[in-house]
Amino acid sequence: MSEKASQLNGPDHIGIIMDGNGRWAKSQGLSRIKGHRQGVETCRRIIEACQDLNIHYLTLYAFSAENWNRPEIEVNGLMELLALFLMEETRTLKKQKVRLHAIGRIEDLPSRTKAALKKAIKQTKDFDEWHLILALNYSSRNEVVDAAKAISQKAAEGKLNPENLDWETVSSHFYTDSLPDPDLVVRTSGETRLSNFLLMQSAYSELYFTATCWPDFTRAHLEEAIRSYHNRERRFGRTGEQLDVETGLSY
Ligand code: IPE
Ligand code: IPE
Ligand code: MG
Repeated sequence: MSEKASQLNGPDHIGIIMDGNGRWAKSQGLSRIKGHRQGVETCRRIIEACQDLNIHYLTLYAFSAENWNRPEIEVNGLMELLALFLMEETRTLKKQKVRLHAIGRIEDLPSRTKAALKKAIKQTKDFDEWHLILALNYSSRNEVVDAAKAISQKAAEGKLNPENLDWETVSSHFYTDSLPDPDLVVRTSGETRLSNFLLMQSAYSELYFTATCWPDFTRAHLEEAIRSYHNRERRFGRTGEQLDVETGLSY
């Protein structure tokens, strides 16, 4: 896809539920952790492709709050892999001028992973054109709970009047405060659910599901998802005819 094509109508923000590392590994006769390692290679590939395709925001769902329930050996392996990825990738992010963000209950991550994350965030904080957002120990439901706690605390201290609560104020308490909503949410591996990923922010996102497992996902698959996105009509509650008038297609 030409850069021009993707510049035409976005998407500007893609969220990806990177699924299928385990099944991919099984199909190759490899351990699950080898599947995750291969998944990291896909991350590098896709981060680079996003810049070529003019996608300014990429959110990768890397570890859900529910993923703590996996066997300890896998959780430890994933956390170690994450720390390594962050340490190795920071140099590339700086070279590509990509700002790193994290969403989720970051404080509860193991110290090595957390330290690598905080360092990478700090070292890229002055970039403002390209954004990579890692969803780590993330859960949309926890995000709502954390926002509700912060809001009720402010109300109890008299800093906020509950009567004036609106979506702007509520969403400004989410981890995603300064970030735009995703235009497109992609899930790999054939599963067709959101698994607690950006549930509020994806209220009007286009959804795209592909059977390809994350380790096999390439730039060509991403372009296919973007092509599908370009064929959608985002109506935001209005009629197709209203949109035609706005885009000058109606006479
Ligand atoms: C996605 O792959 C990676 C994480 C959830 C961390 P999975 O590990 O969920 O792979 P499957 O679903 O078992 O194939
Ligand atoms: C969702 O994948 C979480 C991530 C991609 C990090 P899962 O593999 O954990 O989701 P479920 O359990 O199949 O819904
Ligand atoms: Mg999975």
